[in-house]
Amino acid sequence: MTYKIRVLLIVFVLSLSACQTNNKDSKKDTSKEEVSLKEHFKGSFLIGAAINDSHIDRSDSLGIQLLKKEFNSITPENIMKWMYVHPEKDSYFFDTTDKYVALGQENGMYIVGHNLVWHSQLADWVNPIKDSLEMASVLKEHINTIASRYKGKIDAWDVVNEALNEDGTLRESVFSNTMGDGFLELAFKEAAKADPDATLIYNDYNLWKPEKRDGVVRLVKKLQDNGAKIDEVGIQAHWSLEGPSIEDIENSIIAFSELGVKISFTELDVTVLPNPWELDGAAVNQNYDEFEGDPKMNPYPNGLPDSVKLKLSKRYQDIFNLFTKHKEKISRVTFWGVQDGQSWLNNWPINGRTNYPLFFDRNYQPKKVYTDIISAKNN
Ligand code: G3I
Repeated sequence: MTYKIRVLLIVFVLSLSACQTNNKDSKKDTSKEEVSLKEHFKGSFLIGAAINDSHIDRSDSLGIQLLKKEFNSITPENIMKWMYVHPEKDSYFFDTTDKYVALGQENGMYIVGHNLVWHSQLADWVNPIKDSLEMASVLKEHINTIASRYKGKIDAWDVVNEALNEDGTLRESVFSNTMGDGFLELAFKEAAKADPDATLIYNDYNLWKPEKRDGVVRLVKKLQDNGAKIDEVGIQAHWSLEGPSIEDIENSIIAFSELGVKISFTELDVTVLPNPWELDGAAVNQNYDEFEGDPKMNPYPNGLPDSVKLKLSKRYQDIFNLFTKHKEKISRVTFWGVQDGQSWLNNWPINGRTNYPLFFDRNYQPKKVYTDIISAKNN
């Protein structure tokens, strides 16, 4: 073999190996692209999703796959609410909640309990209670039975949900009507007794509003002054493309963290549909049946236009930039659903619309907003 041919051979072998190295590099890049939400925000905060029956009974296998890949925390969207878990005074139904907790444990997830005390989705037998002592005893028994059953298994409890009006005053409910604001102190103290290590949360919507923010500040201070353990304020985060402003959200993050509690964003979604009646927040009694089937109110039944995809992506980038800026104050960000087709926002405030509020589409595929967030260097 001549020298020239040997040199040519060496050059060929070297370029072959360089080519392989490049391939390895491009493989590395591909695997980078496959990074998940939970990996992307590792070290900043947990990333959760609200799940429902089809995840818990494992029938939604694609949903489960997505859940395991992308999320490290779960919240039960409905199955743990009073009407389902404690439907009669002397009977509890734990079949589904046990399966929910088992799913989280199997996958090493941070498991949230939603919720212990809420005026909505309450069992009918609670509503006629008029006497404060009777209510106190019902609440004690309810909280103690559930929180003790999942002691050491459920990591965080939404202890009290939505106890305030929009102006920050105490909401009228069967709990406040019988016990005034004393039901909150009782609830937090009972939950702490039942599971001293669980993270205890006060959870509400529209906490960006200055009056409601101030109401929460007063509520948390009072609980703290009276020796109740409260660890976090849960900001639900049912938002839209237009609002609330990043500044208002930031002011709430700062105000709550100054109380010495952490913040979790417990129910994040961003609606892209028209909402011309200035509906506020997430109270489910606001349902506008007369608009059902009106095409003006359901403008994207066959897919979201690129211009709106862009807006959604920009909105979520602003939101996550804010979360990342305050990551030391924030423990968890939970999306209210896994994929768009399963979101409550397809049926609220108008039934049967096609909404696009989450990071995964109806075919369980990541959306533009997902790719944009994952490729941003912001955590
Ligand atoms: O289970 C029944 C089913 O049997 C029936 O066929 C069907 C027909 O409408 O209704 C089913 O119940 C629905 C339930 O979700 C389970 O899917 C209720 O009508 C519906 O009102 C209920 O909505 C839930 C809502 O809470 C009720 O308050 C939403 O899915 C759930 O996302 C929403 O979650 C709340 C949080 O818990 C607290 N913060 C606000 C948030 C949004 O409202």
